[in-house]
Amino acid sequence: MRIEDAAMDEFVRVFSLDEVAPGTARLATVGSYDVGVFNVDGTIYAIDNVCPHVDGPLHGGKVNKAACTVSCPLHGRDFSLIDGTEGYGRQSVATFDVSVRDGEIYVASTPRPLVSGATQTSNR
Ligand code: FES
Repeated sequence: MRIEDAAMDEFVRVFSLDEVAPGTARLATVGSYDVGVFNVDGTIYAIDNVCPHVDGPLHGGKVNKAACTVSCPLHGRDFSLIDGTEGYGRQSVATFDVSVRDGEIYVASTPRPLVSGATQTSNR
């Protein structure tokens, strides 16, 4: 087994790229997580789909492409699709590494370490 293949064992295929068109998001289940998979102008992001306020489904929220954030559809908290931080430094959501290979989207089976207490910034 190649090292690259071993690393991919830690990823779960969620959708084909065609199933998440630019400007859309879909909900996937990865292990025990509900994961929102977002396509922002061709870049794929994956975040914990459950808003920490009162469980709003983030994949149903409005995406701000310039800021690379999603606004919770229930009460409007904004979360970075890049690092999961919330706009006012309140509780963040977890994010997941993503790999796109051969037109298929893979999401890491475990989230990145949670970024907490940070003021939302874009690294772009
Ligand atoms: S449930 Fe997301 S802001 Fe309230």
